[in-house]
Amino acid sequence: MASDFYGDFVRTGLGKKVVSSVGLPSPVRLRRYSPTAPLIEGTVLVAGHGDAPLAAHIASMLKSLHLEVVDEAPVSGSLSAVIADLSTIEHPEDLESLRAIVAPTLKSLRSNARVVIIGRPPEAATSPAQRAALRALEGITRSIGKELRRGGTANLVLVAEGDDTNVDATVRYLLSGRSAYVSGQVIVVGEGSPVEPGDWARPLAGKVAVVTGAARGIGAAIAEVLARDGATVVAVDIPAAGDALAKVANAIGGTALQLDVTAPDAGQRIVDHANTRHGGLDIAVHNAGITRDKLLANTDETRWRSVLDVNLMSILRMNEAILGPGGLRDGGHLVLVASIAGIAGNRGQSNYAASKAGVVGLTQALGSDPELRRRGITVNAVAPGFIETEMTAKIPLGTREVGRRLNSLQQGGLPVDVAETIAWFSQDANAGVSGNVVRVCGQSLLGA
Ligand SMILES: NC(=O)c1ccc[n+]([C@@H]2O[C@H](COP(=O)([O-])OP(=O)(O)OC[C@H]3O[C@@H](n4cnc5c(N)ncnc54)[C@H](O)[C@@H]3O)[C@@H](O)[C@H]2O)c1
Repeated sequence: MASDFYGDFVRTGLGKKVVSSVGLPSPVRLRRYSPTAPLIEGTVLVAGHGDAPLAAHIASMLKSLHLEVVDEAPVSGSLSAVIADLSTIEHPEDLESLRAIVAPTLKSLRSNARVVIIGRPPEAATSPAQRAALRALEGITRSIGKELRRGGTANLVLVAEGDDTNVDATVRYLLSGRSAYVSGQVIVVGEGSPVEPGDWARPLAGKVAVVTGAARGIGAAIAEVLARDGATVVAVDIPAAGDALAKVANAIGGTALQLDVTAPDAGQRIVDHANTRHGGLDIAVHNAGITRDKLLANTDETRWRSVLDVNLMSILRMNEAILGPGGLRDGGHLVLVASIAGIAGNRGQSNYAASKAGVVGLTQALGSDPELRRRGITVNAVAPGFIETEMTAKIPLGTREVGRRLNSLQQGGLPVDVAETIAWFSQDANAGVSGNVVRVCGQSLLGA
C-alpha cells in the first residue's frame, strides 16, 4: 500500500500551520470501529418534525445503550451526533424543521461527528408536494456532508412505513466507526424480520461466510472483519495466490479454498466446501475483481471479456449454486462489490465500469426478488471509491493524489472501511436492508 505522505504531514504541528495558512485540504484521522469502544462518545441530539415516531423509537433505543441523548441542542457544549426524523413531512415548507434542528448544531459538532436524517421513500408519497419534500432530503443530506469538516459524515435513511423497528442496525452502523468513510449516502430500510445478536461485539457468531478474492487487499480485510465479528470464514482465491490465501485463512481460523471464480463449477465447489467443512453457508461476499484498463478505442475482445467474466458473469454463474437448494441458508446475506467507476464511469475503464454497473443492476434485481425476500435473504452491494490498496498504489502519483483528495473527507479510504460496511450488511439484525448500494467513498465528487 502506498503511504499517504500528505495526510501524515498535515497532522504534524508544522503541517497544520502550512495547511491553515494556504487553505489546503486538512484530513483528520477518522474514528474507526472497535468492538470494545462505545458506539459513539458524547451527546446525541434526536429530534424531528411533528410527532416524529422514528425519533422516539431511536431515542429510546440509544438510551437503552446508555448513550447520552437529548431532544434539544444544548446552549453550550458540543454534540457528537444529530439525528433528525423528517418522516412525517408533507410539504416543502416542513423542511424548515430540518433546518431548525440541524443548522444551530453544525458549528459546534465534535470531530468525526454524525448527522443522520430520517425520511420515508419518496415513491410512497401521497401527493406531489410530499414527494418533492421527501426527495429534497437527499439534496440537503449530500450538502450537509459537503459542509461538514473534521471527519464528519451525513447520511439519509429512508424507512418504509410500517418497518420502523427495522432501522436499529442501520442507526448503530451510521453512529459507529464502521461507517467512517461513508457520507452522502441514502440507505433504504424496508420489510424483514431482524434478529438481534446475543452479543453486539460478535454479531456474526456461529455464521459461516465465504469471501472471494480474499488473498489480499479489500478481500483479506473483509475476511478479517467477518472473523472478528464472529464468523467462520472460507477464504477463496486463485491457486497462484495460494500462499497468501493460506496466511489469511490461518490467521483468522478459517479455511482456504483455491479456485478461479470463472470456473464453471466454482459456485458448486464453494457450496460443497462450506457444507462439508463447516455445516452450511450464511454469508457470501463476491469480492474478486480485476482491471484491464485501456481506452475503449484500443480494447480488444480478450480484455473486454476477461473483466466482464471475472467481475460480473462469474457472479451470475456462482449464484445458481449459492442461491439454489443446499446453498445459502434462509435468512442469509449476499454482498457484492461494485465500484464508483460503475456509477460515474471512468476514462480507460469501459470494460471495468460495464462490469461494476452490471453488479449494481444485479444487486437491485436480486435485492427485490420476491422469492429471495420470502426466504429472508438480503442482497446488497458496496461501491468503493479510492481505497488504499495494491490496485490504487499502481496509479501514477499525481493522479493518485487527486483521487485521494477529491472527496468530502479529503483522504483515501482503507480496506477495513469497505469491510465494515460488508460486515454490517451481513448482520441478521439488518434484515430490512436489501437491494441497497452503499458507496464507501468519503463522498467522492466522482459520480456524486
Ligand atoms: N482498490 C480500490 O480502490 C477499489 C475501488 C473500487 C472497487 N474495488 C473492487 O474491490 C474488489 C477488491 O479490490 P482490491 O483493490 O482488493 O484488488 P486486488 O487486486 O488487491 O485483490 C483482488 C483479489 O481477487 C483475486 N482474484 C482475481 N481474479 C480472480 C479469479 N478469477 N478467481 C479468484 N480470485 C480472483 C486476486 O488474486 C486478488 O487476490 C474488486 O472487486 C475491485 O474491483 C476496489
